[in-house]
Amino acid sequence: MARREAILDLLDLPLRGVAVGAALEVGVFRHLAESPQSSAVLAEKLGIPSGRCSALLALLAAEGLAKQTPGGWAPTDTARASIVDVYSPDTWQLLAEEARERLAAAADLPSGLRAQPAPAGGRPAYVERMAGDPERARRFTRMLYEIHQPLAADLASVLDLRGGRRLMDLGGGSGVMAMALARRWPQLEATVVDVATVCDAGRELAASQALEERVSYYAADFLADPLPGGFDVVLECDVAIYSEPLFRKVREALSPGGRFVIVDHFAEDSAAADRSRLAWTLVRRLADPSWGEPSVSGTAALMQEAGFVRITAARLPATPWIGGRPEAVSLLEGYSAGG
Ligand SMILES: C[S@@+](CC[C@H](N)C(=O)[O-])C[C@H]1O[C@@H](n2cnc3c(N)ncnc32)[C@H](O)[C@@H]1O
Repeated sequence: MARREAILDLLDLPLRGVAVGAALEVGVFRHLAESPQSSAVLAEKLGIPSGRCSALLALLAAEGLAKQTPGGWAPTDTARASIVDVYSPDTWQLLAEEARERLAAAADLPSGLRAQPAPAGGRPAYVERMAGDPERARRFTRMLYEIHQPLAADLASVLDLRGGRRLMDLGGGSGVMAMALARRWPQLEATVVDVATVCDAGRELAASQALEERVSYYAADFLADPLPGGFDVVLECDVAIYSEPLFRKVREALSPGGRFVIVDHFAEDSAAADRSRLAWTLVRRLADPSWGEPSVSGTAALMQEAGFVRITAARLPATPWIGGRPEAVSLLEGYSAGG
């Protein structure tokens, strides 16, 4: 009986997540964090019927995220510590929106499991979308700029770039890694390579940090377009696009003896029973049934095939959040011959 209930609960589990996501998307926590308020006042601000607002608040209370106080509804301490004090409302809004989009991709899973997918290849769907939608690119880029700050700080503290003058941040997005490294190494100039819409969003951020003289943005599709050359270091962080032809391009972009650094979450970094990852893998395989998470050993082999030497791999100190999740992260590096 208990087991049957557990299965039935599991079937309704997505609804609980969707309710929390909707609260993040419409701004419930942003309003409650400003001041405690009644359900009716909140409903008015959100522009939703008050019966729906009170049902949503009751659900959030059951999840331990909202509570009634003498002054009205307020975030719980848990919600403050895990939501309100962690990221901006805009970042939470996009994280929830992306989760909802993933759920939509799996909504009719029985049909999806049987469907013939279109041939995979080229840029991932989220990159295609950003390339054609400057506002989405701006929101995504600003969100990753925020959530990758701890990773950027970790990377800047472990990566010794003494003597390095020119760094390419391949798929560098906001330039969050390039900016942290430029701050740590005053001699360094960085070029972020990304699609044009993302570069535009990144330039705004670099200017807001007074780093526009040292961190520049080069708009290109790194799979299809030529890359600029003469770099001492190429960094590829949280991009997860690894192939021998791309690595050959990277080698050509490096000066002799130049260094290629890859930072990412790899298959070896995952706990085998991580249920979110397992669900992600299933969703990814709807688009490409043979999709597999890149591995350290497979990526190192590609580097070798592309002509890199002295290849090493190491775990970064435990890092919160890469690509939207708290994960362990590895750093792989190799050198172009001639140094
Ligand atoms: C997950 S983000 C990581 C951004 C950044 N490296 C960081 O750690 O915050 C991956 C980035 O790679 C870029 N990207 C993926 N494929 C690309 C391609 N073919 N050409 C240019 N940029 C690409 C995306 O636009 C995106 O900004």
